Amino acid sequence: MKILVTGGAGYIGSHTVVELQEKGYEVIIVDNLSNSYQSVINNIHKITGTLPDFEEFDLCDRQKTLDFFSRHQDMDGVIHFAAYKAVGQSVEQPLKYYHNNLTSLMNILEGMKKNEVENIVFSSSCTVYGQPEKLPVAEDAPVQAAASPYGNTKQISEEIITDTAKANQNVKGILLRYFNPIGAHESILIGELPLGVPDNLVPFITQTAIGKREQLSVFGNDYNTPDGTAIRDYIHVVDLAKAHVVAVDRMINNQHKANPEVFNLGTGNGYSVLEVVKAFEKVADQPLKYKIVDRRPGDVEQVWADTSFANRELGWKARKDLEDMMRTAWNWEKALAEKNTEE
Ligand code: NAD
Ligand code: WQD
Repeated sequence: MKILVTGGAGYIGSHTVVELQEKGYEVIIVDNLSNSYQSVINNIHKITGTLPDFEEFDLCDRQKTLDFFSRHQDMDGVIHFAAYKAVGQSVEQPLKYYHNNLTSLMNILEGMKKNEVENIVFSSSCTVYGQPEKLPVAEDAPVQAAASPYGNTKQISEEIITDTAKANQNVKGILLRYFNPIGAHESILIGELPLGVPDNLVPFITQTAIGKREQLSVFGNDYNTPDGTAIRDYIHVVDLAKAHVVAVDRMINNQHKANPEVFNLGTGNGYSVLEVVKAFEKVADQPLKYKIVDRRPGDVEQVWADTSFANRELGWKARKDLEDMMRTAWNWEKALAEKNTEE
């Protein structure tokens, strides 16, 4: 069974390639390395013993994408990770985000249709729920107006896939709404590689602890939560990656019950910013320097997933706990620091 993984050199994509290969799938990665490195492909090889096929090009290039599909008509499915993902940057450069995230998706769907590649798994986000009225949030909760152009690309992409599937029943989709993926592979050969100053909490924590940042700014402690800081559902990236393998298996085996199907990928547990800091301090066995600052505009107060539908239907459950997430994130940061001093 052969799967195209777009964005497979990226953070979540690389972990998913490992899990796919370990389940016996043949993987082809397409990535333009706009937010990743060629070395990731070699590190996947080191983990699994199999070098995935890799083609470097921009999926916004329609001709290259269509050529790719006509050369690989035997593919059994596509997992589409490739996208830009920095929320703040999307507010400053909306066209860059709409162009990249939507054009690439439309080119892929066109290539799939023309070459009868049926199955697509898409990386969506819990950002589509905004601040839900009811927690934990289930898949049938209303989608709320997006708080950023990035979030809007996820909503529009879900609609594009839904409309394409409606018009064309042999295109089948699974939309996976990720909560907050963190952590790294146990081998610490792959992990998250944020460019510049990280927007996300966990890379900021690990970079502070290693001495790259002076201190963490905790965005707000006046939320209506037990300790006043905002709550999220953090999920280990390897658990997330495994869910993609299950989703692909489900489509290939024709077990899907709707087109598209939508699943939440989280643990079902919410942790506050300060709880994450404490978990980090425990596994790293060192205090973390932080200060409380104002809320970050656009942040929701609290969100965590109702995972019962995904657990039941996919037969998948996140297994790793917050300490596993923080331990692997910290080991990854230390490995990166060691590598930098060697170079
Ligand atoms: P990432 O930036 O590490 O990986 C994305 C990969 O896609 C990169 O390797 C990049 O080079 C590639 N890429 C981007 N545009 C491309 C194009 N036009 N053509 C070819 N390659 C291209 O990001 P990630 O964290 O692994 O996220 C993967 C997906 O999951 C994205 O769609 C993202 O929006 C979504 N997502 C991520 C999170 C998160 O917190 N990381 C949460 C929810 C959803
Ligand atoms: C988590 C919590 C912050 C940094 C974003 C996207 C979402 C998805 C995941 C891609 C929040 C607080 C953070 C810091 C802090 N990405 N925080 N100090 O905002 O839940 O989600 O990433 O699809 O779409 O919006 O994740 O890691 O940025 O923040 O206090 O320096 O940590 O306020 O409560 P977020 P995050």
